[in-house]
Amino acid sequence: MLVRLALSMKYGERANRPVLKILYTNPEYQHRGVAAALLDWGCRKADQLGLTTYLESSPVARDFYPKFGFIETKTYSLTWDRWSDRPPVQWFQMVRKPEG
Ligand SMILES: CC(C)(COP(=O)(O)OP(=O)(O)OC[C@H]1O[C@@H](n2cnc3c(N)ncnc32)[C@H](O)[C@@H]1OP(=O)(O)O)[C@@H](O)C(=O)NCCC(=O)NCCS
Repeated sequence: MLVRLALSMKYGERANRPVLKILYTNPEYQHRGVAAALLDWGCRKADQLGLTTYLESSPVARDFYPKFGFIETKTYSLTWDRWSDRPPVQWFQMVRKPEG
């Protein structure tokens, strides 16, 4: 496949909690509306079902998700034992309430 995209809507352990797990567009194909199309699809599904959606955003995508109604609810710093010499990375928990 020329374009590699990964989007999975996984239902958490508790019912009624869709979680956006991975969203990635091959850099060669970014800024062509691909991620927006996928996210629109997921958000429409969540709206139809009346479900609140959750995700954890990378710093790169932090300003991307609010365009789709996601609101930042928590920021945390991550460190990995494997890369303990590197500075912590900020990660952002976001929530989107159903619309319509
Ligand atoms: C975030 C990402 C998935 C966006 O993919 P994309 O296919 O280029 O996005 P789109 O072309 O659909 O962009 C839709 C809109 O969001 C904007 N946008 C795209 N990437 C953005 C970013 N990183 N931050 C803010 N806005 C962004 C576009 O300019 C466009 O705006 P417009 O409709 O006003 O023109 C892509 O940059 C990516 O794969 N990043 C690296 C992996 C990553 O961090 N993923 C998120 C993990 S939580």
